[in-house]
Amino acid sequence: MLNFYSTSLENQKEKNLYRYLTSSDSTSSTTIRRGKKNFISFCCNDYLGLSQNAQVKKAAIAAIEKFGVGARASRYVSGNNSLYEKVEKQIAKMKNCEDAIVFSSGYATAIGAIPALVCEGDLIVADRLIHSSAIDGSKLSGARLMRFLHNDIEHAKKILEENRGKFKKCLIVTETVFSMDGDVGEISELLKLAEKFDAILLSDAAHDLWLNQSEVASANHLQMGTFSKAVGALGGYVAGDKMLIDYLRNFAKSAIYSTALPPAILAGALTSLKIISKKNLGQKALKNAQYFCELMGREKPQSAIVVLIVGENKKALEIAKKVAEKGMLISAIRPPTVEVGKARLRITFSSEHQKNQVKKLAEILNFELKKIS
Ligand SMILES: Cc1ncc(COP(=O)(O)O)c(C=O)c1O
Repeated sequence: MLNFYSTSLENQKEKNLYRYLTSSDSTSSTTIRRGKKNFISFCCNDYLGLSQNAQVKKAAIAAIEKFGVGARASRYVSGNNSLYEKVEKQIAKMKNCEDAIVFSSGYATAIGAIPALVCEGDLIVADRLIHSSAIDGSKLSGARLMRFLHNDIEHAKKILEENRGKFKKCLIVTETVFSMDGDVGEISELLKLAEKFDAILLSDAAHDLWLNQSEVASANHLQMGTFSKAVGALGGYVAGDKMLIDYLRNFAKSAIYSTALPPAILAGALTSLKIISKKNLGQKALKNAQYFCELMGREKPQSAIVVLIVGENKKALEIAKKVAEKGMLISAIRPPTVEVGKARLRITFSSEHQKNQVKKLAEILNFELKKIS
């Protein structure tokens, strides 16, 4: 039987799909040390540099001093540090919602919230490009999962027209910014469909730059997200209608049967959220992505994620390696994260990147991409 596992690993290597882990220490908001080498990182999701922010670090250290390192129990036993309430109030305010619930990660949010909201006999209508965590949450729920073509509202509507009547409850799932493509989701159009077809829209804002914080709240809309990217910490959330959040507090298993987040993480996330609500840092990250696209002769980006599709896995790996040899890190994204034949280079921009760093990356990539075209 063990043969199965070793053969699978060999197959992964042959297809250039084997995953290596490399020790990577953050040394500043845009730099990483690997062994003895320093790199400028264009592959972190810390879009606003807040993981390294002095105020955020100070708040986290103070929380360790005051409350210790671990939370010691689930929130439902004794791990519900008073910082949870503060973070939940802050996120609800920023999302213009009545209430919010915090989970231990974005992944834990999806696999907790989706199975709490729908089950066997229910329907999930999801964008074809939703993140793996939402797919896993959907599978775990036992509800019937139907996918619509990426951002294709007419297709989503057709699926709902033909199927909504056959199922009890219905959840529509999408993302505000698609993680492996960098384009934005059709939130307002999908919300109209949710309202028309008596469904709930669950939108994942994991890769948001927190630019549009004034969306009008709807009882049919649950806004999900994470604190691990632009917030620079860890944890996930769902914000929305008070009754639905109360329902999630009672039925989302990943929030109940798992130890609470460490107080330091909550303190860090809270400080980051307050900084975000005062300063428009996301605009600078977007400007860096725009400058890169101008230099590469590409369309204006919709987020801080820019994707260059190269097709073959090997090509993506080779180019990322060449870029690393010049002191910069970008990600080579391969299946199953993206479709077979659509391997890509994923470049993420931070508000902390300097113009000359962005320019250097564009020069390297223009040179490398010309070689393969
Ligand atoms: C769209 C999306 N949703 C959810 C997650 C999971 O979030 P976390 O990393 O906080 O578990 C990710 C991160 O990889 C993501 O890209």
